[in-house]
Amino acid sequence: MPQAFFKWIDCTDKKRPRDLIRRSDTVLRVAQLSDLHLPGEVALTRRLRDLMTPHGSFENFSHEISAISNEIGHHYRSERRLYTNLIKKTLIGLHRLGVDHLVITGDLVHCGLAAEFLDVRAALEITGWWGEERLTVIPGNHDRFNLYERLPSEPMESFFPVVTPREPRFKILPGGVALLEIDSNRDPVDDRHYMERWLPNTVGRIYPEALDWIDRNQKEVRGMRLMTLVHHHITSDWYPTSASSIWGLMEPADGVGELVEAIELVDPYSPILHGHKHDVMGVDYAYGTHQVACPGGFANALSFNLFDFNVHGEQTMTQLQLRL
Ligand SMILES: [Fe+2]
Repeated sequence: MPQAFFKWIDCTDKKRPRDLIRRSDTVLRVAQLSDLHLPGEVALTRRLRDLMTPHGSFENFSHEISAISNEIGHHYRSERRLYTNLIKKTLIGLHRLGVDHLVITGDLVHCGLAAEFLDVRAALEITGWWGEERLTVIPGNHDRFNLYERLPSEPMESFFPVVTPREPRFKILPGGVALLEIDSNRDPVDDRHYMERWLPNTVGRIYPEALDWIDRNQKEVRGMRLMTLVHHHITSDWYPTSASSIWGLMEPADGVGELVEAIELVDPYSPILHGHKHDVMGVDYAYGTHQVACPGGFANALSFNLFDFNVHGEQTMTQLQLRL
């Protein structure tokens, strides 16, 4: 029974019974996980030592330090095996829920190191979630930015078939539903945010080239329900302010208004699934006509969303939590 794995938290359909069973009128069940941040084994102090060298002013540095610690600290760094087991338990439980397709909206790993990518990929493979028809992954800032430049890393593309910032992709699923995969990270070469010498891509950006691509290719998915996948958050009125908000490091992604206009050409009610913020968004939050979903992050407090589509193309979202 799925109840052994997960707790019911909330649902957009208030008349549904509070259970996790896949209903008979469901034609597609999609699960959204986000921000797993599988940790690397490099100590935070080592990273901070690296940061001190190129940094001119200690005064500025101390202002930024709390935001940085927030961003790169990880309580489970030394308990990587335990942490990975929580992820595996979740992935096994998804089969009990009758999930057809799994979406992970970025930050699969914490430091962007090859060893971390291999661990996440292995967890997906051994639990039966590997393959384009079962799994869709988009890049988060931690996946795109190697926190420890002194250790060798390979791009996320070496491990996962992901999109790039200027070229999104549509994926057609059964049941008249399509996914739009977007990489909302800034181009690390041409368009670096001033803080990015120290911090990964905390402010996202939707590029005009990506919007043009959607416009040119939307006929592929015309008439379908569209789920829009993007790592960075699109609004800021739903989570508490923190040290990193004060420094402008956690603003919503640039170009969100234009993205919403572009997806409305396909589906005026496209749900927008994102991560990046580790706060759990309530199930009734919407941006205009779009349900927005952010399940929070980290496997030690793992929440996630289930989207059920029925034959009429109507969606219901249920929020769940992993039992620890
Ligand atoms: Fe992120």
